[in-house]
Amino acid sequence: MNIIKEINNRRAYRAISPEPVEREILTRITEAASLAPSCMNKQPWRFLILDDQAALEKGRSALSKGNYWAQKAPILVLVLTKKDLDCALNDGRDYALFDTGMAVMNLQLQAVAEGLHVHPMAGFDPAVIKKEFGITAEWIVVTVLAAGWPGTVESLSDAHREMEMAPRQRKPIEEIAAYNRWNEA
Ligand SMILES: Cc1cc2nc3c(=O)[nH]c(=O)nc-3n(C[C@H](O)[C@H](O)[C@H](O)COP(=O)(O)O)c2cc1C
Repeated sequence: MNIIKEINNRRAYRAISPEPVEREILTRITEAASLAPSCMNKQPWRFLILDDQAALEKGRSALSKGNYWAQKAPILVLVLTKKDLDCALNDGRDYALFDTGMAVMNLQLQAVAEGLHVHPMAGFDPAVIKKEFGITAEWIVVTVLAAGWPGTVESLSDAHREMEMAPRQRKPIEEIAAYNRWNEA
């Protein structure tokens, strides 16, 4: 299919090398994130990039057991936002998470174009992140991204090793998109 190659090539890979990543590249991926659209150009996303050992240790201490593979990643990106940094409409539509998600996608696509693996995680304890980095309660730690150069699969569990090579699982297009008429099913 003629889908652009960064979208096709992005996978939530777990085999990430511990080899460091240059700041120049990290700057480019955050710049890509900053070019995302947002409601009234509010730009509610914030990124705390961890690339030194002391900071990485703090970040790693918040990861859940199942994310053992991310302990080796040379880069963790904490993605934060706050509801009041973006449009919050009277009918309940809050755009902070939506816009932050779009920025994270831009970041991931630029990372893929650079040859990096980048893997978003929900499996972490936001309270630990907040405590370790002195982040106040009102912030939402939306996700932690593990990033780095492609690594080897040896240290992955059997299940994860298999997933690394498995084809993508996606719902059929007819289930997620339609033309002209809403179908509840
Ligand atoms: C918000 C979010 C949270 C996720 N959390 C985890 C996680 O904690 N651990 C993990 O191994 N993968 C996590 N993933 C990765 C997804 O499982 C993965 O993106 C999904 O299975 C689709 O596979 P693909 O990204 O390779 O296409 C997360 C992805 C997203 C977007």
